Amino acid sequence: MTSLDPRRARLWERLGLGPVWTERSAPALAPAGSAGLPVEVPVALDRGIDRMGWDELERTVAGCTACGLCKARTNTVFGVGSRDSQWMLIGEAPGAEEDLRGEPFVGQAGRLLDSILAAAGLGRAATGASAVYIANVVKCRPPANRNPEPDEVVRCEPFLRRQIMLLAPRVIVVMGRVAAQAVLGTDASIASLRGHAHRIDVAGASVPVIVTYHPAYLLRNLADKAKVWADMCLAREVFDRTQPRAH
Ligand code: URA
Repeated sequence: MTSLDPRRARLWERLGLGPVWTERSAPALAPAGSAGLPVEVPVALDRGIDRMGWDELERTVAGCTACGLCKARTNTVFGVGSRDSQWMLIGEAPGAEEDLRGEPFVGQAGRLLDSILAAAGLGRAATGASAVYIANVVKCRPPANRNPEPDEVVRCEPFLRRQIMLLAPRVIVVMGRVAAQAVLGTDASIASLRGHAHRIDVAGASVPVIVTYHPAYLLRNLADKAKVWADMCLAREVFDRTQPRAH
């Protein structure tokens, strides 16, 4: 079994959650060749999440009090889209509008994301091969739209890991630094991670991960739209070359 990467192990220790004990039955979601979402789950963080189905997982997120973000939230923001989607998009954390509506990417950045998806023949309300499932690394809104703190990411990450395992997507697109770093377990910049397919191991299957800029960044840097389009084209190419997963 792959062990927890040292950076994450140190973080968990600082949070008072070490030593890191693991359950033998914890299913594998490990990166192929690099650190990523941890394959081993500390007992203090496990909460049975890796055995939950979609509905129980969503209910558990709705009642989660694992970090301070629960105090100010209006709604948790679990995810949107068909649970049969073969595409998965991962963002950072809900903003004000998402917190009010309980759905990811419904503000200005979300409208831009919807246009990018539409241009790629995809959509959150679509079905079949055009369907996408969209989730965030963190399910509650950080105050004043600050970046999630590392401990908030660590406490919320098991939910995302389980969503990835349940969906078993054919391709994952991570948007922005927080999502890229959480999914791939790296400190590298978006610029250096773009342009090729990374791989994470999802319960024994190697799933391609494409890194792109966050739509909120694009709103401030319109000139980089072409790069995001190139990333979506790469994701499409990788998707077309990848066999559908058996669920
Ligand atoms: N930004 C994100 O990363 N996620 C959302 O849901 C909204 C804005």
